[in-house]
Amino acid sequence: MKAPTHLIDLNDVTVSQWNSIIKLAHDIMESPMVYAGACRGKIMGTLFYEPSTRTQMSFQTAMLRLGGGIIGFDNPSTSSVAKGENLKDTTKIVSEYADILVMRHYLEGSSKAAALTADCPVINAGDGGHLHPTQTLTDLLTLSEEKGRLTDLTVGFCGDLKNGRTVHSLLKALSCYEGNKFILISTPELKVPTYIKDYISASGKTYEEYNTLEEALPKLDVLYMTRIQRERFASPEEYEAQKDVYCLDTEKMKLASKELIVLHPLPRVDEIAVEVDDDPRALYFKQANYGMYVRMALILSMLDFKMTCKPLLRGEIVKDVTCTNPKCICNTEKYLPHSFRRSGDVLECEYCDSRILL
Ligand code: NCD
Repeated sequence: MKAPTHLIDLNDVTVSQWNSIIKLAHDIMESPMVYAGACRGKIMGTLFYEPSTRTQMSFQTAMLRLGGGIIGFDNPSTSSVAKGENLKDTTKIVSEYADILVMRHYLEGSSKAAALTADCPVINAGDGGHLHPTQTLTDLLTLSEEKGRLTDLTVGFCGDLKNGRTVHSLLKALSCYEGNKFILISTPELKVPTYIKDYISASGKTYEEYNTLEEALPKLDVLYMTRIQRERFASPEEYEAQKDVYCLDTEKMKLASKELIVLHPLPRVDEIAVEVDDDPRALYFKQANYGMYVRMALILSMLDFKMTCKPLLRGEIVKDVTCTNPKCICNTEKYLPHSFRRSGDVLECEYCDSRILL
């Protein structure tokens, strides 16, 4: 049997495959009826261990619009997870019922862990504060449709850049297109993780770090706003100290170019004033709509075996070393092989990308 192709990290798939998905999503938007029965007889399982509105419903709608069916849960407490079933057993079983699995989980590396033993393709719909590749496909389709290009863009990212998985995946993806530059707007506590900054630099791209939206706005082609991720903070006090630092309002929008577009993966909390919604440059609701089409294209590509990905674990198994990130899946699911990429004295966990100094 052919090994299934998974989508865990977009960067495990080639840029030309992303571009094909974006092109297919465009074709689906133009002629949706052509694709209406394309997944008849196929079933998608959605396993959501963490809350979701857009990702879950856009995946489900995507499959229904393609003529397929859906099973799954959006609250693990109504499944055998509540009886103590481990991730491996739950996902293995559902992968035998369904043709494709979409999984969201609060622990980093969880989708990769599930994919190791699943019998069908697994899509990462968000693993803790780590990655969110299908939001990135949504963002790339939005940029391609609204800006007409994925290159030569100055993109500002504002908010919780430490815990925002959409930010991490999009920065890694946009680093693969020529001429892009990044302006990272956050407090010192919520900066982009070092491994992402290293990825940007290794791709030959540059970034600048700012504290305020006012400094950054005049320079941007795209502003990607994000909420402060309350659920990922160690204490309520730490969240309270960060929560209202950034708010994009109509006054600040005056500082930006007429060509700027404002994106947000949503949900919004208070970081964009509702008054900004009426500005034609505010495209976040349209962006959410693009998400459904790109997920239709992704499901089709994966079920048609039109995609290939790199092997899930490519490093070395180091039995006596454990990842030091308490939010890494390998600290909860103890049976997982402890697999790392080695670079000098540093081991990088293959589930969550955390670094351990030997
Ligand atoms: C994001 C997520 O879940 O990471 N939402 C989404 O999928 N559209 C952003 C967030 O929760 O802040």
